[in-house]
Amino acid sequence: MNKQAINKTNGKAPILVTGGCGFIGSNFIRQWVATSDIPVVNLDKLTYAANPANLADLPAGCSYKLVVGDIQDTNLVRSLFKDYRPSAIVHFAAESHVDRSVTDPESFLNTNIHGTFILLQEALAYWQGLEGTEKSSFRFLHVSTDEVFGSLGANDPAFTETTAYSPNSPYSASKAASDHLVRAYNHTYGLPTLITNCSNNYGPYQFPEKLIPLMIANALSGKALPIYGDGMNVRDWLYVEDHCEAIRLVLERGVTGETYNVGGNSEKTNLQVVGTLCKLINEVDPSSDHNELVTFIKDRPGHDRRYAVATDKIYNELGWQPRMSFEEGMRKTVAWYVNNPEWIAQVMSGEYRNWINKQYASVESLVA
Ligand code: NAD
Ligand code: TYD
Repeated sequence: MNKQAINKTNGKAPILVTGGCGFIGSNFIRQWVATSDIPVVNLDKLTYAANPANLADLPAGCSYKLVVGDIQDTNLVRSLFKDYRPSAIVHFAAESHVDRSVTDPESFLNTNIHGTFILLQEALAYWQGLEGTEKSSFRFLHVSTDEVFGSLGANDPAFTETTAYSPNSPYSASKAASDHLVRAYNHTYGLPTLITNCSNNYGPYQFPEKLIPLMIANALSGKALPIYGDGMNVRDWLYVEDHCEAIRLVLERGVTGETYNVGGNSEKTNLQVVGTLCKLINEVDPSSDHNELVTFIKDRPGHDRRYAVATDKIYNELGWQPRMSFEEGMRKTVAWYVNNPEWIAQVMSGEYRNWINKQYASVESLVA
């Protein structure tokens, strides 16, 4: 669909999504087109983490347009604001994998900090030129992470919106920097911004370099399940569709200048997560006990011990809470990967093999 088609679809200004071919962005767009007739323009660079096939199942004729490009390309971003006159921007695009940020921090600084800066600059110039309700209803929603708050001890209270930032990895430091820029553009220029800080997501279409899809893909092919350190690090897990609903609600009803924590109220150690996955995969393939594939390997440098998110604010002010239980969400996720072997095979080639060979060089069954 070309830009004229988008603009003529129903006379409604589109939203501009960045990074919509990645894991959360593609789930967000799928949910958006199923529930709204507001068109979507998706700006995505199509890095290794992206897959346009993630959106192959969008209904025919829906108002969706993919623009392949970099959020750091000022001219491109400016032309998108000029041509499409979006009512909002929902900013997912990022380098998002902590382990890669340890080996290649520069791309994280470029996309996550500089890219967010370019979007803010161009959004500000565009917003300043708007009038009336177009101006008052415009929103810049920045999708961020709970990792900006740092690491918790076993008995510490969960992160709230007022917890001091204390990022520990190049990834979380770059996301923290981008959050600060977003906040500054609201405070200094009045740009109507919103920030969400969410815990670990899981679900369909997640690239198999992150814990849950990596473990499912490896278990399904009888390969080692590599656990960093003692496996007792804790993450709070949220099903991706619940996160997408929270973002839509914040976009619609959030107070500009505010931040909202989003979490699953579902803290698990990595060993608990992998144990749950093995149990579910044993049901699909009872020929062996997949727990036997668990392999402890060298810990991640600077590995955060625990994340936990208090969700009182988004619950009390916007009425959001996760719908999906961890057990049901994991069952759906395993079923999706079991039923989509071509998707796994497609993303596990080329660049993916290079990453696995480098990151898991000590694990014989993982190295090609
Ligand atoms: P992802 O890595 O799956 O997808 C990122 C997308 O951004 C890809 O489609 C990629 O091509 C695109 N992209 C990367 N650099 C770009 C650039 N310079 N210009 C344009 N597009 C570019 O990431 P995800 O897991 O879907 O995460 C999306 C957002 O949510 C990120 O901002 C991340 O920090 C945040 N977040 C993720 C989680 C999680 O558990 N995955 C949790 C909380 C917050
Ligand atoms: P990950 O999915 O990379 O998310 P994040 O680091 O952003 O929380 O990792 C989740 C947890 O799983 C984290 O504690 C690191 C651990 N982990 C492993 O033990 N082995 C692995 O191969 C991977 C990728 C992660």
